[in-house]
Amino acid sequence: MEKDDRKQSINFKSSIIVVLRTMGLVWQVDKFLFILFMILVIVPGVVPFVNAYIYKLIIDYVVNSLSASTFNLDGLFFLFGLRFFTYFIQQLSFVFQTYVDNLLWTKFPITFNKLLFSKLASLDVQYFEDSQFKDLLSKVRESYNYRPQNLFNNMFYSLQSLVQVVIAIVAVLELNLWLIFPILLVTIPDFFLQMRESKIMWNIWGWSSIMRKRFFNISNMLQDGGQVKEIKIFGLGKWFVNSILGLQKQFYNENKKVANKYLFLDSGINLLSSVVFVGIEIYVISQALLKRITVGDIGFYTTIINNFQNGLGGFFRSINQVYDNSLYVVSVFDLFDLKPRLQQYPNAQRLELSTPPSIEFKNVTFRYKGSNRPVLHNFSLKIEPGEKIALVGENGAGKSTLIKLLVRFYDPDEGSVLINGINLKDLDTDDWHKTVGVLFQDFNRYEYTVKENIQFGNIDVPTDEQYLTEAVKSSGASEVIDSLERKYEQMLGKTFKEGIDLSTGQWQKIALARAFYRNAPILILDEPTASIDAKAEAEIFDRVEKLSRDKTVIIISHRFSTVRQADRILVLDDGQIIEQGSHEKLMKKKGLYSELFELQAKGYK
Ligand SMILES: Nc1ncnc2c1ncn2[C@@H]1O[C@H](COP(=O)(O)OP(=O)(O)OP(=O)(O)O)[C@@H](O)[C@H]1O
Ligand SMILES: [Mg+2]
Repeated sequence: MEKDDRKQSINFKSSIIVVLRTMGLVWQVDKFLFILFMILVIVPGVVPFVNAYIYKLIIDYVVNSLSASTFNLDGLFFLFGLRFFTYFIQQLSFVFQTYVDNLLWTKFPITFNKLLFSKLASLDVQYFEDSQFKDLLSKVRESYNYRPQNLFNNMFYSLQSLVQVVIAIVAVLELNLWLIFPILLVTIPDFFLQMRESKIMWNIWGWSSIMRKRFFNISNMLQDGGQVKEIKIFGLGKWFVNSILGLQKQFYNENKKVANKYLFLDSGINLLSSVVFVGIEIYVISQALLKRITVGDIGFYTTIINNFQNGLGGFFRSINQVYDNSLYVVSVFDLFDLKPRLQQYPNAQRLELSTPPSIEFKNVTFRYKGSNRPVLHNFSLKIEPGEKIALVGENGAGKSTLIKLLVRFYDPDEGSVLINGINLKDLDTDDWHKTVGVLFQDFNRYEYTVKENIQFGNIDVPTDEQYLTEAVKSSGASEVIDSLERKYEQMLGKTFKEGIDLSTGQWQKIALARAFYRNAPILILDEPTASIDAKAEAEIFDRVEKLSRDKTVIIISHRFSTVRQADRILVLDDGQIIEQGSHEKLMKKKGLYSELFELQAKGYK
């Protein structure tokens, strides 16, 4: 178990901050409901005292009447009227509390999701490739739909209990101040026991627990349609089920150990508190016998002392809950506090290009966060406007990383990326993104209609039907669309009933059409034909030529048949360009390129 992680997350001060910020968040949701909820929670803390006091008056009234010769019912009716009224108020506040609670927490997601999703949208791509961030995000996902509510409600329940305690103290002061101490003596240890117990449980099953991470890892895997196939074939199902059972048994056993220990301690405290309470009752009765208090007071004080203990117990319980939930809610605010890592300067240079710019990587060194090994080291490359560049190289050579730097998902650690001689950092990133059309290696499959899937490439402008048809033709998607019953209007994916799932290659053709449809001066294709058959591939690249005559094109591919038509082929190895030139030139050179080309060609002979 990673102890440090835990210590950090249960710091008392940060807990308080989380509470205050949760309050602020709910206040932002609805001020009126916030205040109403507070009132509705506090009222039930006060009413029992009023009720107990009225009951005392009734008893005293009866006792007095019994010893007196005359009997007047009017006063009694009045008191019962009051008692009815307070009961009614009490019940009514419960009803309204449920009502307000319902409204408040169905309204909460409106504000919360807006904050959450705008935050997520504002964060750079690099966050989503960062395992620490992914961890944080899954914590937020697991806790945000009920933890803030639990925290908030318990905060007010603790307030209710506190009111109860304060009133009880004031009332008991009338009788004997010293009575408070034995009660504190039995209640406070109980609180610390609970607190310790929840800390220990947090340790067993908290965020940083490896057991929990493994549990969710396996349970997600077993629910994921994509992973089920391999698990079936390799016969891993039973193995995973057993390890999940093992984890749960281990959790049960550790939990039982803790529970057993606390059962023993809790029993001890209970024994003590029984002694204290009977003792206090004896004291109250003795005071009545000594005629220091009335018969009605016996019931009143017994109730008060009960309320005091309940209030104190409730207070500690709620505070403990607040604390417990704050351990989870803290991750929500940790997420809210994240700032985009890439600086966008307020007066960044605007960029409006209809023709491709020159692109230059100048002495770029880059490493991913948490890794010492640079993926690119002192890397330089110049791409002229309109050049058709192909990048080849082994897995992990840094091809996709190069693209990520080019579209400014990351900034280089050293060196710079220059666009028409201007540092990419000084350009307006949104403008720059409008200049590039990218088909990523892990492209998206939008569960929308075919047409929408392609339009997403250029959603800001009205649909250009002619260009859409052209993009579809060039990408080879037209055959896919022809085969669909509803053509362009066909819903894709498995989520919706009328949706049809495509094969990987068919999806890729649609994604390619989307990249073409963007019609940007720079077209970047990372493994655009990995899943596309050889015949379709050849046709696609004939058309890419035509479609992108006046564009810069960067294609990454492992298929040498794809890259041979490029103006310049770059062979990347371990973040360095080791060979470059046209296909013919590289073949003559008899270096790595020609070796790999022959190897692949041999496979086809
Ligand atoms: N998000 C990331 N965090 C940390 N390291 C990464 C990340 N993405 C890639 N890497 C590492 O950077 C190196 C280059 O990866 P990159 O994806 O650029 O390779 P590639 O040339 O595109 O390979 P492929 O042909 O498999 O697509 C690899 O060693 C990889 O492990
Ligand atoms: Mg790649």
